[in-house]
Amino acid sequence: MNRDQSAAIFKASQEKMPGGVNSPVRSFPGLDMIPLIATRGVGAYVWDADGYRYIDYCQSWGSLILGHAHPFIVQAAYEQLRQGSSFGMATPYEEALAARIRQHLPSIEKIRFVSSGTEATMSALRVARGATGRPTVIKFIGHFHGHCDGLLVRAGSGVMQLNSEASSKGVPTDFVKHTLCLPFNDIAICREMLRSRDDIAAVILEPVAANMGVVKGDPDFMKMLREETARKGIILIYDEVVTGFRLGLKGAQGYYGITPDLTCLGKIIGGGFPAAAFGGRADLMNHLAPLGEVYQSGTLSGNPVAMCAGLAVLQRIEQPGFYEKLEEKTTRLVEALRQKVPGCVTQMGSMFTPFFGASDVSSLPKLSQPLYARFFKYLFAHQIYFVPSPYEANFISSAHTDEDIDHTIDVIKKYSIE
Ligand SMILES: Cc1ncc(COP(=O)(O)O)c(C=O)c1O
Repeated sequence: MNRDQSAAIFKASQEKMPGGVNSPVRSFPGLDMIPLIATRGVGAYVWDADGYRYIDYCQSWGSLILGHAHPFIVQAAYEQLRQGSSFGMATPYEEALAARIRQHLPSIEKIRFVSSGTEATMSALRVARGATGRPTVIKFIGHFHGHCDGLLVRAGSGVMQLNSEASSKGVPTDFVKHTLCLPFNDIAICREMLRSRDDIAAVILEPVAANMGVVKGDPDFMKMLREETARKGIILIYDEVVTGFRLGLKGAQGYYGITPDLTCLGKIIGGGFPAAAFGGRADLMNHLAPLGEVYQSGTLSGNPVAMCAGLAVLQRIEQPGFYEKLEEKTTRLVEALRQKVPGCVTQMGSMFTPFFGASDVSSLPKLSQPLYARFFKYLFAHQIYFVPSPYEANFISSAHTDEDIDHTIDVIKKYSIE
């Protein structure tokens, strides 16, 4: 491969942006290679600055469930763009998307749109604290809820590779003193904590973790969390930024049959544009300004282009058999991976992670970066793009054809682990 153009752009970017990127993982940390410099995407594919086409299993970190530049979504966004891209005023499109989301996720009685998943989790916590008058929040080790200060404690995603308790410099200890971090799926420790303290405002979790690789919440653990939080008036927050409309129309809450008090959404609901949301019980959401005293706002919140794109996505994924087809394709690919990966491979619906060097995911696995890097580079050289970190989920979109999956399987089969 001749990647001279990509190398030149990356070099120039590094002079102007820290690490040459606007989100750390895009720089391929730990991989020692020029990252993919994307110039366009159609369906399952992305093209780089040198003109190479890759089968893309990142799909904007799960945002693009219909693949890149789906004509229906492009049309919806374009039509709105022509009518105005931002107003800073209420629009009918927010109401329309809110109604559609609520139809599928009835736990979301009221919703507020924001522009990123980070804003959604940060604001949901503010509502929980405002409503309960309590300061403390429980999160789980390896779960990632974006980069707001109070949640950057033993977080997953890119920060898994930073290997520090605090997760980030620049976050004073005082800012995280109200954040308790517990082991995911550990019923005894978590129950004890919830029963013994009276200062807990909220428990926030990824019901199916995607940022320590795909790790499912144990159904008994999920049930315990709901029962114990309800008993003490603690707000249970499902961070479904990844799982919302990914695991099915009813998300992880539908999968577990559990009703959280608040839910955070992102990625898919913006159709590839910057949109996210938090919502839930009306009595909690009514604490938000202008009705209540919990302040939250955003210039581009509920952006009309993003709302229209999101609405168009929901219309497509509501079609019968949509999720079944996605899962079928994913399962085929995962079965092939299982034959090759020295470790284990997890899957939930159309999300999957190969865990190199970890035989199971019961505790936070210590993954082998060198093994993953070797596999990643092999796929990359065959123009197949898996996510550039061992601690992340890969995603399949409806645009991935059976041929794309077959081709990927063929390439995986030829991989030599020696
Ligand atoms: C579960 C989860 N919550 C929150 C976020 C933060 O979302 P954003 O990157 O849009 O701020 C992410 C990002 O990947 C995520 O995976």
